[in-house]
Amino acid sequence: MPKIDYLRISLIDKCNFRCQYCMPEGTKLDYVLNQELLTNQEILALVQDVFIPLGFTKFRLTGGEPLLRPGLVDLVRDLARLKATEDLALTTNGFLLADLAQPLMDAGLKRINISLDSLNPATFDQIIGNRGRSRWQQTWSGILAAHRVGFDPLKLNVVVIPGVNDTEVLDLAALSIERNWHIRFIEFMPIGNPELFGDKAWIDSVELRRLIRQKWGLVESNIKGNGPADVFQIPDAKGTLGFISQMSECFCDRCNRVRLSADGWLRPCLLNETGQIDLKTALRSGVDTADLQRQVGQLLLLKPEINFKERDSGTSGTYTRTMSQIGG
Ligand code: GTP
Ligand code: 5AD
Ligand code: SF4
Repeated sequence: MPKIDYLRISLIDKCNFRCQYCMPEGTKLDYVLNQELLTNQEILALVQDVFIPLGFTKFRLTGGEPLLRPGLVDLVRDLARLKATEDLALTTNGFLLADLAQPLMDAGLKRINISLDSLNPATFDQIIGNRGRSRWQQTWSGILAAHRVGFDPLKLNVVVIPGVNDTEVLDLAALSIERNWHIRFIEFMPIGNPELFGDKAWIDSVELRRLIRQKWGLVESNIKGNGPADVFQIPDAKGTLGFISQMSECFCDRCNRVRLSADGWLRPCLLNETGQIDLKTALRSGVDTADLQRQVGQLLLLKPEINFKERDSGTSGTYTRTMSQIGG
């Protein structure tokens, strides 16, 4: 088992998009009340006094949509200043990034992953559940801003949905040829939208690679990252192509991360809540951080067993939280 040293921190469960594969329109979500969100100070205390002493060095800020979180730039600055922080990254839908890319870079954020499911504004709006003025252009401007201010590597996440955006796989892959961008194709998971999922709503990464190989050829590659992507490259392209294959493959044996929800629950696994710890209540009721460190240490020891015994790709379990609530 790899060392568990990567913490995904969800900063907010709200989102300004309603992606079909995450929190489709009409989904009834009980949002966390503001007073139930971990404060910046609490997040910093947990990172500094619980996770870093346990060997964590990689942190990713997620949502919902993390750019909606008040005080985000201050939190980034505080986390970036910690000596033990080797990697500090953020996953966003990019819609508010045009104005925030520079302040985030100045605050010390190292990497950004942005969702981009389509190059076609109408398809994009269909996927993100937008009925008003198209949101594609502003999202694209956010991506360009992140590139311009120097985020590198810059990764774009594509959830591939058959019959919706699968015909665009080659166009999206082509973005990596001239630009130093890293496009990642994610197999759609049934969490959050079992109706859309149907019989087989995901396309095997092997099939996507076959398509791409046929057109340009494909060679193995690598890129800085802490996640489960398998990385390839079109020969001589400036960027890479990553494949996140949680449906067709089990990468639990490579899992190096745990997740902290916006309301302070520490989850050992995306698909499993077994053993989760309510760190917020513990902090607020005065449990000291040495004790929390001991509890979290125990959970880390249990994690391999949780991964292997109870993995089911999300198809049969009962999920009390959507991807937006878990932080992706
Ligand atoms: P890098 O460090 O840049 O590799 O990032 P990452 O892939 O860890 O982060 P990102 O937020 O971009 O994650 C992309 C997607 O990968 C997630 O939204 C999930 O769909 C999938 N993913 C990430 N971690 C896990 C995991 O532990 N289990 C499963 N099943 N899927 C995951
Ligand atoms: N299946 C696969 N990926 C998903 N994401 C959200 N919901 C799903 C799902 N059901 C991904 C988004 C984003 C990240 C935060 O989570 O593409 O990149
Ligand atoms: Fe929002 Fe991300 Fe979920 Fe889309 S996938 S609704 S952008 S949290």
